[in-house]
Amino acid sequence: MRQLAVGTNIKMYLGYRDTVAWMEQLAGTLGGFREVELFAFVPAVCLVDAGRILGGTPVGYGAQNMHWAEAGPYTGELSAGMLKELGCTHVELGHMERRRYFGETDREVNRKLRRALDSGLRAVVCLGEEGRAAETEVRRHLERQLEVVLAGVDPAETGDFLLAYEPAWAIGVDEAASPGYVEEMHAHLRRTVAGLLGQAAAERLKIVYGGSVTPDTAGKLCRLPDVDGLFVGRSALDVERFRGIIEDASHWHNRATD
Ligand code: 13P
Repeated sequence: MRQLAVGTNIKMYLGYRDTVAWMEQLAGTLGGFREVELFAFVPAVCLVDAGRILGGTPVGYGAQNMHWAEAGPYTGELSAGMLKELGCTHVELGHMERRRYFGETDREVNRKLRRALDSGLRAVVCLGEEGRAAETEVRRHLERQLEVVLAGVDPAETGDFLLAYEPAWAIGVDEAASPGYVEEMHAHLRRTVAGLLGQAAAERLKIVYGGSVTPDTAGKLCRLPDVDGLFVGRSALDVERFRGIIEDASHWHNRATD
């Protein structure tokens, strides 16, 4: 049975002080959710504070991006070693905004995933289609992404990272993708992983959904068999709203798996 995972990526929405205040509220509010894998990706300048505030709570934390090299002449980048020194548990890789605005590719995400696995950081590997398209085309796109992103990953390693299915067209808008559509794509992702790494490896892998999740949609998505959790943006900026999402996700996920 895959344990529910709910995380947030607060992007560049808040300033430094507001992010610190948000993390303090998060630590105070989410202390009771020990049965859910929780994680928060905050701006890099807040990671030292994240260690002080979230370290020792059930909320894992990490950076929104990372370089694949161990060290070297990579101006502006962060290494896995630095993140480990700061106590990070997770790292976000290949978010749609990194791909769209900074040209990040699946090949780079693959190298970063390798680094995360070798460093003991739980990567949340984002993928998904850019625009709306026919479902057969989307499925093919996801297959191609998985083939590149998972190259060199050992089947035994699929419990050490998560996939986040985030169709770009559903991010930052009013409504999440429909539960039927999400389940279909998650099931397809899992089938594809089974083809690449074997059934047991695919069964172990957590696949979370991201894109305009709200308290209204959390339960509807988490009762689906192939949806192992949520990756939340704007709805997590209000910590009480985020807590509501986790509660609902947890309730429906437990009911579905009882
Ligand atoms: P929104 O929930 O704001 O659409 O963002 C989702 C996201 O990009 C998570 O990584």
